[in-house]
Amino acid sequence: MTDRLIIFDTTLRDGEQAPGIALSPEDKLAIATQLARLRVDVIEAGFAASSPGDFEAVRRIANEVRGPVIASLARTHPDDIDAAAEALKGAERARIHVFMSTSPIHMEQMLRMTPEEVLRSIEEGVRRARRYTDDVEFSPQDATRSDPDFVIEACRLAVEAGATTINIPDTVGYALPDDFVALMERVYAEVRGDNEDVIVSTHCHNDLGLAVANSLSAIKAGARQIEGAINGIGERAGNTSTEEIIMAVKTRQDYFEVEIGADTTQIFETSRLVSRLTGYPIQYNKAVVGRNAFAHESGIHQHGVLRARETYEIMDPESIGHRSMIVLGKHSGRAAFGDALSKMGIVLEDEDFERAFRRFKELADRKGEIGEEGLRAIVAEETTTHADVAELVSIHVEGGSDETPTATVTIRRNGEETSWVAEGDGMVNAAFVALQDAFDLPARLVDYRVSPLTSGADAMAEVNVVIQVGAETYAGRGVSTDVVEGSARAFVAAFNRVLATRAGALEEG
Ligand code: KIV
Ligand code: ZN
Repeated sequence: MTDRLIIFDTTLRDGEQAPGIALSPEDKLAIATQLARLRVDVIEAGFAASSPGDFEAVRRIANEVRGPVIASLARTHPDDIDAAAEALKGAERARIHVFMSTSPIHMEQMLRMTPEEVLRSIEEGVRRARRYTDDVEFSPQDATRSDPDFVIEACRLAVEAGATTINIPDTVGYALPDDFVALMERVYAEVRGDNEDVIVSTHCHNDLGLAVANSLSAIKAGARQIEGAINGIGERAGNTSTEEIIMAVKTRQDYFEVEIGADTTQIFETSRLVSRLTGYPIQYNKAVVGRNAFAHESGIHQHGVLRARETYEIMDPESIGHRSMIVLGKHSGRAAFGDALSKMGIVLEDEDFERAFRRFKELADRKGEIGEEGLRAIVAEETTTHADVAELVSIHVEGGSDETPTATVTIRRNGEETSWVAEGDGMVNAAFVALQDAFDLPARLVDYRVSPLTSGADAMAEVNVVIQVGAETYAGRGVSTDVVEGSARAFVAAFNRVLATRAGALEEG
């Protein structure tokens, strides 16, 4: 049994399936490059056959990212396997990840296939994938609601057809640690057996908040690959969180006794990059990467940590790339700004640097001091890999609690400035209505969150929004010392994302 635990990251495939996330191929390349710095073993770059955008992202990552194995998901259908192989052609090491449902409900209701047909298609799909690469993974989808005997039969067949990794997905997050371990033990004994070429893997969803616990429990049952997504993003309640697995295994080496190759000092940066590009905020108390993960509020705790960090911290913040406090003020110049960004691992090209610096000066003038979270938020807002169609020049809102608020927004588009005026049932709503007119996109606001980045009456706030246009949702974020302005910036970012997605679809189509 190998004592190496393979970290398989699916942020770009399963993670990206979370509602409201629409990463462009450039965004995906940026995340994959950072995942390679984090030194995960496998990057699942997408599902090549699912859309031209996914195909292009897998192709670019396969061509440009070195280090990890690059994988593409594929159904057992020949077209899917061929598309995955084609997209992965440029990879240093390529993996095709073939999946097929094995639960009665999926086979009967979704696939409308008999168990015999399912088995035949698994065998054909895995054999076809093996024609392209000797690194083939097979997943029996919805394994934890399948008949365990049928899961074993399907996985054995996949191994006979050439699969080298057998991944057991808890697709709907239904398993409890004990039943998951029981299933994993059977897979290990009856599918892997003495065959050292077969790696047993887990892929857990978080519907009952057990994804990380279930995945970790599988290590003792012989699993040597865990699949996860950064910040735990993914379908519904998300996937196993990659960074929590890495830190649990590192912190509790005494218990797990498996090695991992990840560079933990890249965790913080990877987490923030994923949050920035997906528009998904990180829960304050999120394990490992939440902003409170290393904050101590009670006097007793603070006192203890000042005496000896280990009194209340089981991980060193620096081991995940959390540096000591960086604070810049309104007198900080370009050099100090650049130096702070480089300490935070952020490198900006000339134009992005100038935009971020201008915005920093604007906010520092109003706010005084800006710390690391604030700097990250500014960079997040000002550097976008989507070609922005429109830019917010200004927003003014008149009225308030007694009078119906009226917002005037000015937008710059193709060098031209135009203003729109609209009323709303609140100041933020008035801005939203005016911006819908400005972009000529009827939208619904489905999520709206304001998070303070600094404290005090003049706190800088980050606003995260998700808007719905037609059937699709789009995320945006904005930063300001003024909540209405921050909201307008977030709306503009989301509307720009709608236009960029539509322009991308036209090019592809
Ligand atoms: O959750 C799941 O079952 C999956 C498979 C495709 C591996 O994501
Ligand atoms: Zn999944």
